[in-house]
Amino acid sequence: MEIKNIVANLHPLERKILPYLSGEVELLELCKKSALSPVEAMRAVQWLSNRGALTASEAESEMILLGDNGKKYLKEGLPERRFLEAIADGEKTLAEIEGKAGLKKEEINICLGTLKGKAAIAISKGTQVTIAITEQGRRLLAKPSLEEQFLKRSFPLLTSSLQEEDRFAFSQLLRRKDIIRVQKITTKTITPTELGKKLSEAPMVSEEIVDRLTPAILSSGKWKGKRFRAYDLSVNVPSISGGRRHPVSEAIDYIKKIWLEMGFFEMKGSIIQTGFWDLDSLFVPQDHPARQMQDTFYIKDPAYGKIPSLSQKVKEIHENGGKTGSRGWGGKWSEKIASENLLRTHTTVLSARTLSSLSKKDLPAKFFSVGKVFRNEAVDWKHLFELTQVEGIVVDTEANFQNLKGYLREFFTKMGYADVRIRPAHFPYTEPSAEVDVYDSRRKKWIELGGSGIFRPEVTTPLLGFECPVLAWGLGMERIIAEYWNLSDIRDLYKNDLRQLKEMKAWMR
Ligand code: PHE
Repeated sequence: MEIKNIVANLHPLERKILPYLSGEVELLELCKKSALSPVEAMRAVQWLSNRGALTASEAESEMILLGDNGKKYLKEGLPERRFLEAIADGEKTLAEIEGKAGLKKEEINICLGTLKGKAAIAISKGTQVTIAITEQGRRLLAKPSLEEQFLKRSFPLLTSSLQEEDRFAFSQLLRRKDIIRVQKITTKTITPTELGKKLSEAPMVSEEIVDRLTPAILSSGKWKGKRFRAYDLSVNVPSISGGRRHPVSEAIDYIKKIWLEMGFFEMKGSIIQTGFWDLDSLFVPQDHPARQMQDTFYIKDPAYGKIPSLSQKVKEIHENGGKTGSRGWGGKWSEKIASENLLRTHTTVLSARTLSSLSKKDLPAKFFSVGKVFRNEAVDWKHLFELTQVEGIVVDTEANFQNLKGYLREFFTKMGYADVRIRPAHFPYTEPSAEVDVYDSRRKKWIELGGSGIFRPEVTTPLLGFECPVLAWGLGMERIIAEYWNLSDIRDLYKNDLRQLKEMKAWMR
């Protein structure tokens, strides 16, 4: 940007410090020169730094301040001067000096020590101790001492700014009681960049620039013909990281919105379920590998839960197929195995529970859920043992496989995936069954998300009590959520690395 334009954008505080930025300057110094408070000066420094006009660096240093005695002696003179002045017109006793100079006992004692050391006084011990001034003493009286000169400096002073000749007085005064104090502070050194130096020399606009638009300016009409300070939108400002929802939660909110807008009702339920609801009601045989400990997390305590009376119908289906025309799985169905408590392995458990609560008059009905499911799996870049599933069912006498594809396509288009692929698969509870993939056009490959299908009569007959096609799907969301943020490892979604969380853009589809 041109200097002229920058100048027009400057804040009044920036204008106030710029004239002193022709070279390196300490913040404290800058405050003094510009007559700004440290807070004001710092703001101006920050803004100019954002514009690339200066750099600020911090260093620890020491600051010298006057102590209580220092302030007093600055007004009244140092005790040794007052001592000498008291005896300038003739020798005196200690009591007389004390009265004339207005000094305390301890101050008198210190004066005796220092003045003797400087050969400024002569002490004679007759019947009474008397003190007389020497030639050297008169010479000292004639001009201000180094200490006195030092006290007249303007405080606070940085120890680093002390000259050779100051050092002696400084160390002398430091030894005495509360004349000066030393405080550790952090100093800021401000160094103008080339741009800063140019700005420092640039003529500030002479006409008045209005900084704020107030009701008074508006109503009085004074705004007419005035120049207003422009906002500089190109300025590089520090980024602010405010609070936000977890990125996965942002995505889940959006996913829920899609289904709600498509007329689906939300299903909710506990993450702890019995094997009955999670598996048996879905016609998963009791000896199915998915029921093994290495696939499913079982609850230790309480290890068993209640199963509903509906279980008698489910038992029949498992053992002989009931009236569905199926032969079932054969063998004996165990109530005990069905009662085992586990962490739900899929949200399809919510669909089973929902079906069991529906009656014919509720049809047609559409339900979805978004929730955590748990699988005892080895974790790697594309597997988690805890993942978010999107579940859905459509219970409608008219529903068919084409509709299933239609719902999935609609959902994934809104998730940013135009291409959905369905492949034959197998699940104990659906027929036909299909695997669902979406096409990742950036990485040019298909992403496997989960399964879908139409529930078998072995599932719907006992749960619904009547026959009706039920379209169903259950899809893992982490892979596409991770893909949105260009993370190739889904574990990164839950790393909770603060820097990553701050930098991830908001979910916007
Ligand atoms: N429950 C299956 C899974 O967890 C997905 C699925 C849901 C398949 C509904 C068919 C019907 O992978």
